[in-house]
Amino acid sequence: MKKLTTLLMVALASNVWANTHTFDINVSKMGAEIQPTMYGIFLEDINYGADGGLYAEMVKNRSFEFPQNLMGWRAFGKFEVRNDGPFDKNPHYVRLGNPGHNDKHTGLENEGFFGFSVKQNSSYRFSVWARCPEGGKSVLQVQLVDNDTMGENQAVAGTDITVEGTEWKKYTGIIKVKKAQDDLSLRIFLRPGERGRGLVTTDVEHVSLFPTDTWKGRENGMRKDIAQALNDLKPGVFRFPGGCIVEGTDLETRYQWKNTVGPVENRPLNENRWHYTFAHRFYPDYFQSYGLGFFEYFQLCEDFGCEALPVLSCGLSCQYQNDIKDEAKVHVALDDLDPYIQDALDLIEFANGDASTTWGKVRADMGHPEPFGLKLLAIGNEQWDYNDNAAYTDRLKKFLDVLKKKHPEIKYIGTTGPDSEGWKFDILQPKMKQLKVDLYDEHFYRNEEWFLTGGLRYDNYDRKGPAVFAGEYACHGKGKKWNHFEASLYEAAFMTGFERNADIVHMTTYAPLLAHVKGWQWRPDLIWFDNAVTIKTCSYYVQQLYGHYRGDYVLKLTEAKQPLAGQEGQDGLFASACYDKTLDAVIVKVANTGDADQTIHLNFTGKKKDLIFKKSEVISLHSENLNEENTIENPNLVTPRRELQKPETTAVIPAKTFQIIVFIR
Ligand code: AHR
Repeated sequence: MKKLTTLLMVALASNVWANTHTFDINVSKMGAEIQPTMYGIFLEDINYGADGGLYAEMVKNRSFEFPQNLMGWRAFGKFEVRNDGPFDKNPHYVRLGNPGHNDKHTGLENEGFFGFSVKQNSSYRFSVWARCPEGGKSVLQVQLVDNDTMGENQAVAGTDITVEGTEWKKYTGIIKVKKAQDDLSLRIFLRPGERGRGLVTTDVEHVSLFPTDTWKGRENGMRKDIAQALNDLKPGVFRFPGGCIVEGTDLETRYQWKNTVGPVENRPLNENRWHYTFAHRFYPDYFQSYGLGFFEYFQLCEDFGCEALPVLSCGLSCQYQNDIKDEAKVHVALDDLDPYIQDALDLIEFANGDASTTWGKVRADMGHPEPFGLKLLAIGNEQWDYNDNAAYTDRLKKFLDVLKKKHPEIKYIGTTGPDSEGWKFDILQPKMKQLKVDLYDEHFYRNEEWFLTGGLRYDNYDRKGPAVFAGEYACHGKGKKWNHFEASLYEAAFMTGFERNADIVHMTTYAPLLAHVKGWQWRPDLIWFDNAVTIKTCSYYVQQLYGHYRGDYVLKLTEAKQPLAGQEGQDGLFASACYDKTLDAVIVKVANTGDADQTIHLNFTGKKKDLIFKKSEVISLHSENLNEENTIENPNLVTPRRELQKPETTAVIPAKTFQIIVFIR
C-alpha cells in the first residue's frame, strides 16, 4: 500500500518544481467568517433511521396502533384487541384472558425491529401499562426468547411483572442479559396460578423495551452508539425531521410537531411514507411512533451543542406524489393556511417561550424549563412553483408576513426545490431573493461529474444573499449508489467550495444520515447500522474532518490567482484554507481527485508570511481502490490516518486523496 502522506523533507529536484502547484495563501488577511453552523446533520426517519434506529425503543407497534393492530405481534390463546384504552390518541390495547385450560397459554410475542438484539452483560427496561379489568392480581411473565435455539430453553432472560387492580398503571421490570445475541423475540405470557387457578384477565398497553444504557441514560432514550457517532461529527446545525415526511403523501399524514410532544404514550402514530415510496424496497411495517419527537430533537441539539433547524409543512403535500391538477384536493388552500402558520408560531413558543406560556409550559412539563433557544426555522422541504402557479411561494409569503413581524429574531429558510439547477431552481432562486428569506435550502444528489465540474458553483453566487443552506446533498456514483470511497472524495473536493465561499454558504448537511442494513430505502447514507453496531462510511469521515477542522475565517488560497477547484491545468486539485482561532492554526484542505500524485508548495503571503509554525499535523483519507467501502464485515477499511510532522510547506498529495494539513503556531 502506498504511503499516504508525504510532506517532503528534502529539496526537490528542479524538474519536479516545474510540476509543482504553488498555492498562495494570504495569512495576513482574515476572509469571511466561517459560520459555526457550516457543517451539520440532517435526520429524517427514512431507512429506519429514527424508529428502529436512533430511537432506542425495541418493540415495534408498542401501542397496537398500526392499521393492522397486531402487525409485528403474534398473539396466542384467548386475546382481544380493544379500543377504549387510557390514551385517547392511541386507544388500542390487548386484553389477555383465560385460555380455558391449565396447560394452555395466552400471550403476545413481538418481533422487534429486525429481531431483538442484546449485548453481553447488559440490561433492558421493560415497561407496560396494565390493569386487571375484573379485579384481582396477575403475573405477566416477560421473556426474551430465541425461537431458533436447539437448546433446552427458548428464554434467554426475563422478568415477572405483577399486575394488580382495575386501574391502569405503568409497571416496569429490568431484564438482565449475559450473552450477546441477535434475532430474539419478546414474549409475554399471562402466567396461570397454581393448577391454572388465579389466572386473571389482564389488559396490556404501550409495551416497551429499552436498553438501560441509552445516550445520556434517558429512559425515552436514543441508541448510545448512534447518538455518539452523531456527536462525534461535531455538528454545528441539526435539521429535522425531514425531508419528504414533513410534507406527507397527503396532508393528513404530514409531520405535525404537536403530535410529537408530551407523554410518549399519547403521541399518535403516523404513517411513514418511506414504507411504500419505493415499491422495490417495500416495508409495510414502517410507521412513525414519534417517540423521537420535537422535544427529543431539541434535546439532542443541546447535547451536541448545535443549532436546531426544524422544518415545517408549508401546506403543500408531496408534489412528487400529487399532481398540480389536484391542487385543490391535496394542498391547503391559501385562505386556510392560518392553522399551519399558527403551528409555526406555537413551535417558536414551545422552543423559546417561558414556562408561563401555553407551549413553553408543555416543554417545561417535559423536564426542560429553560428555553431551547431556537434561531432557525424552515418552511417547506422540497417544494416548487410553476411558471403560472406560485404554489409554494404564495404560501411561503403568507408565513413570512406573519413570522417576520412577530419573530424577527428568527432566521427563516425557504427552498429552491429538489434540483440544483433546471426550471424549478431557476424559478425559485430569484423568488427567494424577492421574499428575502435569510437562507435558501438547496438539494443535490448528483453524480461524480457534477461534483467534479461544480467546484466553482458558489464563487459565482450573488453576494447580497440570501445565504446558502446546502440542506441535502451526496455524490451518487453513476450506477454505483453506495458509499464507496470515490464518492466521498468528490464530496470532500466540492466542500472546499463551501469553505472558500463561507461568506455566502452558511450551512450544509449531507443526506440521508442513517440507514439500517436490513431496512433501507435510499442510499448512499452517512451512517449504516444493524441492531448492534454502527458503520461509519467514508463520507462520514469527510464530514467529520470538515466538522473538526472547520476553522473560523477563510484565508484566500489561489494558484496563479485562480481558486483551486479542479479547473483546467489544476490536475484535479481542489483546495481551501482557513484560520482556526482556538488552535491558532492555519488549516489547508486539499483533495487530489486526479490519477497522479501532485506536488504542492504552500506559499504563505501577506505581512505575516514568515509565520513560525511549531508543529503540523496531516490527516489523510485515501483508498487504493475507489470502490472500497466500510461494511459490517469490514467497518474500518477506509479511515483517516493522522501523522504529526515537522512543519513543511512542500508536500506530495497522493492521487485520489483528501488531505488536511494543520499548521499550528
Ligand atoms: O433524503 C431523502 C429525500 O430526498 C428527502 O426526504 C427529500 O427531501 C429528498 O427528495
